[in-house]
Amino acid sequence: MTGTILVTGGAGYIGSVAVKALLKKNYDVVVIDNLSKGLKKLVDSKAKFYELDLVDDLSKVFEENKIDAVIHFAAYKAVEESMENAVKYSDNISGTINLLNCMVKYSVKKIIFSSSAAVYGEANGVLSENHDTNPCNYYGFTKLECEKIIKWYSKVHGIGYVCLRYFNVAGDGGLRYLDPDAKNIFPIIMEVLVKKREKVVIFGKDYDTRDGTCVRDYIDINDLVDAHLLALDVDYNGIINLGTSKGASVKELVDWTSEVIGRQVPFEYGKRRAGDPAELIASNEKALKILNWKPKRTVKDMIKSTYDAYKESFE
Ligand code: UFG
Repeated sequence: MTGTILVTGGAGYIGSVAVKALLKKNYDVVVIDNLSKGLKKLVDSKAKFYELDLVDDLSKVFEENKIDAVIHFAAYKAVEESMENAVKYSDNISGTINLLNCMVKYSVKKIIFSSSAAVYGEANGVLSENHDTNPCNYYGFTKLECEKIIKWYSKVHGIGYVCLRYFNVAGDGGLRYLDPDAKNIFPIIMEVLVKKREKVVIFGKDYDTRDGTCVRDYIDINDLVDAHLLALDVDYNGIINLGTSKGASVKELVDWTSEVIGRQVPFEYGKRRAGDPAELIASNEKALKILNWKPKRTVKDMIKSTYDAYKESFE
């Protein structure tokens, strides 16, 4: 397709990379972001920027721009926080409804939605899209509810949609984004390397996996963004997993980082973290079939690009 794409959350870690990729493909881009975690400086100056919260009145954005499709990244995404503040995380749902209502009012016919493997809950192993959904935190619940609402709006109002369920996104997208509040394993390993923290604590070593530590499917941010661009062009409504179909254990991540960077990463084993499944891997057959998408970057590529971003800012 061509035209103008509205990117919600376009100042965030993934959204800002998507904005750049869309501009490169000659789309016009409009960004909405409330800057709660996003940074204005990450938004390419060729995009039109609105500092707005998705639960606010968005009519100005749709009046001033003829939007052809929406890529909807904006959401609160800290799993632990979602279990302490459901009020805040409910905005993920009400903001999505507000956005969809505008799409109906202004006849916008396509949405690509950032969903999450968190909708599967404590599932284990290689998961296809028709695996049971059973979120074990409120964040995952909000993503699942949004998927369902989008599906209904598609039925009732003829909006085309692709819900992309991300597994563990990592790597640098060229914008040198550093997580300001690191909770995920990639930024934590990086903070150890740049001496912002002493060591990595590996949560549990007695899981039923190849080395006893949890296995996750890490997908490079650039590959992930590519899938969104492909999704804009397919005539398909539904849910697609985005992962590599391969897993890496936490211990492997630590070892591979030492290997790639040429320096030992100090670590120790700690207790299991509540709610962590042993192994979560995406089946990505559907992404290949529907989007003709295949991830190109490896975990070692992600380690290298993330380290380059961290190294630069701590030098
Ligand atoms: N881990 C450690 N030590 C740490 C941090 C994490 O050992 O200090 C381990 C975790 O136990 C887990 C793995 O590293 O086994 C990955 O943990 P992350 O916190 O990086 O990611 P999660 O798999 O827990 O969660 C991610 C996203 C969520 C999303 C979920 C979907 O952060 O937003 O994937 O499965 F909901």
